[in-house]
Order: sequence, then structure tokens, then C-alpha cells
Amino acid sequence: MAALTVSGTVRVPGDKSISHRALICAALADGTSHVRGVLESADVRSTASVLRALGVAVPTLGSTISVRGVGLRGLRAASVPLDCGNSGTTARLMAGVVAGHPFTARFTGDESLSRRPMRRVAKPLETMGATVELTSAERLPMTIRGGNLKPISWSSDRASAQVKSAIMFAGLVAGVGVSVSEPERSRDHTERMLRSLGADVRVDGLSVSLGAIRSLMALDVDVPADPSSAAFFAALAALADDGSIDLPGVCLNPTRTGFLRVLTRMGAAVRIVEETERYGEPVGTVRVSPADLKAVKVTADEVPSLIDELPLVACLAARADGETQITGASELRVKESDRIAAVVANLRLLGVEADELPDGMRVRGSARALKGRITTHGDHRIAMAFGVLGALPGNEIMVDDPDCCSVSFPDFWAQLAAATHPSRGR
Ligand code: S3P
Repeated sequence: MAALTVSGTVRVPGDKSISHRALICAALADGTSHVRGVLESADVRSTASVLRALGVAVPTLGSTISVRGVGLRGLRAASVPLDCGNSGTTARLMAGVVAGHPFTARFTGDESLSRRPMRRVAKPLETMGATVELTSAERLPMTIRGGNLKPISWSSDRASAQVKSAIMFAGLVAGVGVSVSEPERSRDHTERMLRSLGADVRVDGLSVSLGAIRSLMALDVDVPADPSSAAFFAALAALADDGSIDLPGVCLNPTRTGFLRVLTRMGAAVRIVEETERYGEPVGTVRVSPADLKAVKVTADEVPSLIDELPLVACLAARADGETQITGASELRVKESDRIAAVVANLRLLGVEADELPDGMRVRGSARALKGRITTHGDHRIAMAFGVLGALPGNEIMVDDPDCCSVSFPDFWAQLAAATHPSRGR
């Protein structure tokens, strides 16, 4: 069988979570913010268009954009529903922002987003004093009547940065103190960004509190590369036969680097060089080289730090020696698709031994060639995880909807082709 040699540098696009937050903070700031390297993808465009509908002049996304903020309570009622597309982060973070304003807004989304649970943000926002209406299944469309919120101390029953950030943005806009505690630490980009813009953010163990402030400073930020997008190329390098891939400018926030820790435990050579800090976010270069991978156990305590990379871990596990087990990850069932069911069904279709668990999965690795057409359910991370397996010599994997990766990584297939055929020029 042909061998795969990888080499060179892959520059993945800007971090999705930080891009959403940069646009929201820029909109709520006093003065003009400058954002470089914002992720130009469908999800971030959803946040931009929701902010536009609420009266903020967000330009078309590009490599450098400037946004004139309207201040903490300067948004105005939209004349149209707020269409969040496929983006859970847009719906949940903007729910918090809207709850702090004295008007009514209706949130809608595509078919996938309309199947995802919204009670988790509605409940704390109602406790703060907003009125939130959901469908009888507690899904979108969601109508929020905001304003006049009270402080809250919320104990979240799941580690969710979207829930935590919704509460923080509601408190920020309403000018009331909030605190949120969670069972495990979820990604903390909101905390880091707000602190760097002058907010009083305190972290105590698994609790974070935000004090009331009058205004937010404008930002001037370079969005680091997305570790969740970099993960696909780190995995490709680990699965290759020879060479290495360098991934520069990647966000190395420890709440996001769980995948690199798991990849290291699987035996891959992962070198991480932290180089700088941008808006409180550590940034650096990751270099990954191939190895014979071994199975791994991923448990609840580390799940939040690699929640979006778990489909990719399962795909790596299909090529690792032994049985990989992922548990404590029931949140995967309510992502853009039921990622436990989707990953296991697709692996089985390719001939991999895999089983669903209520809160995770088991995957047994082998060296057999994997062939078949996988079903993404329109889920970008499923498409790209199986895309990596499909790039390995000997495998023939078709993806039913390759375009769905436009949600987070529009150039994925071109970059994958360049990384696997370096001689074709990059
Ligand atoms: C995100 C938080 C996570 C993650 C999602 C982005 C964010 O979701 O899966 O892709 O930007 O806050 P949860 O908050 O539901 O865990």
C-alpha cells in the first residue's frame, strides 16, 4: 500500500468561538474595534447578521474588519426574526445579549439548530427576569422579552461555555453582577476577552463571576487559529507514515487543548511551542509527527476540553491498536447531529467495530482498508473527521455532503488535498 508522507505548514482559519465573541464584544463596546483574522464561515456570518439586524453596522467579514460599537445597551429591536442558521453559539450567546435589552426578539435557526435544546439558556435568563418562550419541545423558535434583569448566582448542571457566556453577556448588558459554576471547566474565551476589555472577571475553582460595569473598551485583536480546525491536520500527521505538519498561530488555551493531550497519550509525537498571548489567549505552534497509535480512554473530566474533537478521536481510534472508550460525553447527542449515533453508524458502515454507549462510544482499531459513503447529517465535524480517514492511502471514503464544512472551515477540502499531495504546490 502507498505510504503517506506529510510536510510543511498548514495555516488553519481563525477560532470560531473567539470570532463570535469578538463580534459581540465589538458591537457592545464604546468606540471602534478592529478584528483581524476573524473566521469567515457560515456560523460567524450568522452572528454578524444577527448583530446587523439589531442595529450594529458589522461589515462583510474579511481579513481585517472594523466595527463601531453601540455601547452596552445600544442595540435596537429587530424588525425581522434573528436567524441563527446552524449556529448554537449565535443563538445561545445572543440570547443572553438580547435578554439584557428592553425589547422582544425572536430567534430562529435551520433544521439542525431547531432540534437542539434551548431550555439550558432559557432557565437562567428567566431566573434573571427575562421572559423566554420556546416550543413545547423546548426548542427554537425562541422569543425573548428582556430588560430589567436581576443579579444571579447560577449552578449549571453541565459544563457549557454557551450557557455560561449567555449568563455573562446578560449580566454585562443589564449592568448586574453574575456568577456561574459548572461541574467541569468549559472553554473560557468569554472570561478572557471581557477581562482584557476592562471587566471585573473573577475565577474561583469552577466558578466565574462578573461584576457590573458601565462600559466595555473597544478591542483590537488578532483572532488566533482554531485548535478544533488544527486538530484535523494534527490527526492527519499522526496517521501519516512519515514527515510532520506544523500548525502555526494556534490558540493554546488549556480549555481547548484536550485533543492534543489525548493525541499524545495515543502515542503521536506532539510538540507545542507557546509563543505569545493575544487578548489573554496563549498562542503558538503545534508540530505533529506520525506514530503507531494506541487506544485511549477519554473520561468526563476532560471531555469539555475536546468536546468538538471527539468524532475525530473516534476516527483516530479506528486506526489505533486496541479498544478506545469515550465516556461522560452525552452532550455529543445534542450537537449539530447526534454525534455518538452518527460516528458509530459511519464507522460500522466502513467496517470498523464500534458500539454506542449512552454517554459515549467504544471503537476497536484495525489496519483494514475503509470503504464506503458516510452520512454527515449536515454536521461539519463529522464530514471533516471522516475526511481525514478518507485521505489515508488505501481508504475510499465518500462524504455525502462535503459542503457542510462551510460552517466552521470553508477551505477544509482544499487544505486537506494540499497537505496530502504537497508536491502539487502549496
Ligand atoms: C462553544 C461551546 C461548546 C462547543 C461549541 C462552541 C462556544 O458548546 O461545543 O462548538 O463557542 O461557546 P457547549 O457550550 O454546548 O458545550
